Amino acid sequence: MKIAMLASECVPFAKTGGLADVVGALPKALSALGHEVIVILPLYGSVEVAKHSVVPFMDKLGVWMGNTLEWCAVKTASLGDGVTAYFIEHDRYFKRDELYHDAWFNDFPDNPRRFAFFTRAALQLLRDRYWIADIVHAHDWQTALAPAFLKVWHWNDPVLSKAASVLTIHNIAYQGIYSADTIDYTGLKWENFKPEIFEDHGRMNFLKGGIYFADMVNTVSPTYAQETRIGPLSCGMAPFLAAKGDRYTGILNGVDYRQWSPENDPYLPYHYSAREMSGKRHAKRLLQETMGLTVDEKTPIVGVVSRFVEQKGLDVTAAVIERILTDMAVQFVILGAGDKGLEHFYGTLPERMPGKAGSYIGYSEELSHLIEAGSDFFLMPSRWEPCGLNQIYSLRYGTLPIVRETGGLADTVEQYNEEEGSGTGFKFMHLSEQAIYDTVGWALSTWYDRHEHIVRMRTAAMSKDFSWDTSAKAYLSFYERAINLKKGD
Ligand code: ADP
Ligand code: GLC
Repeated sequence: MKIAMLASECVPFAKTGGLADVVGALPKALSALGHEVIVILPLYGSVEVAKHSVVPFMDKLGVWMGNTLEWCAVKTASLGDGVTAYFIEHDRYFKRDELYHDAWFNDFPDNPRRFAFFTRAALQLLRDRYWIADIVHAHDWQTALAPAFLKVWHWNDPVLSKAASVLTIHNIAYQGIYSADTIDYTGLKWENFKPEIFEDHGRMNFLKGGIYFADMVNTVSPTYAQETRIGPLSCGMAPFLAAKGDRYTGILNGVDYRQWSPENDPYLPYHYSAREMSGKRHAKRLLQETMGLTVDEKTPIVGVVSRFVEQKGLDVTAAVIERILTDMAVQFVILGAGDKGLEHFYGTLPERMPGKAGSYIGYSEELSHLIEAGSDFFLMPSRWEPCGLNQIYSLRYGTLPIVRETGGLADTVEQYNEEEGSGTGFKFMHLSEQAIYDTVGWALSTWYDRHEHIVRMRTAAMSKDFSWDTSAKAYLSFYERAINLKKGD
């Protein structure tokens, strides 16, 4: 099968969250199963072209946006494992350090143009290179217009008309909703500006149009697929997803264990495995030293690595963390950035809780790996979580997740059973200060009073396998389904 993946993020080139991890790993897993996969990305100013050997590929690519012909160039690099990445180079749109917003977290006002252009340019690249894809795979609102461009413009094209389109929703809270006249720039025709396609309370909704036009749609866990089909977590999309019937499904993300496992983590100075855990003790000591915590093997550490956004529930955590640190024998480390109020709160927490709390406000790949390895528990009190990767990484590092029962967190963490000592983590239902307090307290009482259960849970957690191979096979059946549906068009 020939698969073209269009995305706004991809490890190791550009990342703000889990989308990049997925787009960096899924193509390689598909390629390992014998398929031809390419990834197309914007060339942001922050992509390290020398480090990743990004070289010129095409000087000029002309792209029709509405009635205007715009020009860009194309560069290329290897993603590894036989997958080629192509970069759309358009300096006015992409030569910026951040991907979506300025340094104050204000979205760039030209985002609709940037990503509509990128998506159309990616399709044009396939066309100009005569790359006949079986599948065009779009991710999130940024590339959700791909299925629309294919159906509205390229239905008769010798190259692009062959492709079935699929759309993966990594987070339905971001839909890309812009003023109605954006439809002119995209050239996607006013006849499609209606409530069942693009129109959303008088504005143009990229994701909604993508859902309508895609042959198949999925999200990144079965539970989130269920939650978004019916309830408020769909952010208004429930009727449109329900209308897709069984053409909307949930496929759990995999994780890349070459990057994320304690046996061979490229960022860790100490390695360990379920059989030989001494490296975890060294990592814990290093984490305590690095983050200014009291060095003490016996005190458990609760770690967090997260974007500071409403989704993650860290505002509720902020309201209760000082009480937890005062009442309980525990340490807390947090790495993250985003909301300025939360950055200030967590940035100054170590001053208020010296020796007990450590924080780093910003982005650090290296520290995120050390937190996974050196912590004993990993907290994710998300309001919603389409999949969540950090809790899956935590399992492999024997760092037991404390999570809210939602989305992918519900699907990947097994509740601790106090009678049997089974399970892989600690789950709570309602997002409240008390629930966080009680569940952290439950994990800590297990640590101090039933430590043999922690040992057993660690072994169980570390043996779980969420490798991409399984998920990639699920994507292949999903693609087959899309191809068959397209044939029946
Ligand atoms: P989301 O995509 O919603 O942010 P995920 O759990 O799917 O949540 O993925 C988050 C990814 O981003 C993980 O790989 C995590 O380690 C990484 N990450 C988030 N914030 C930071 C940060 N401040 N520094 C380093 N890595 C981060
Ligand atoms: C989104 C979601 C996260 C998911 C990631 C990768 O950022 O918030 O839950 O793991 O995409 O699919």
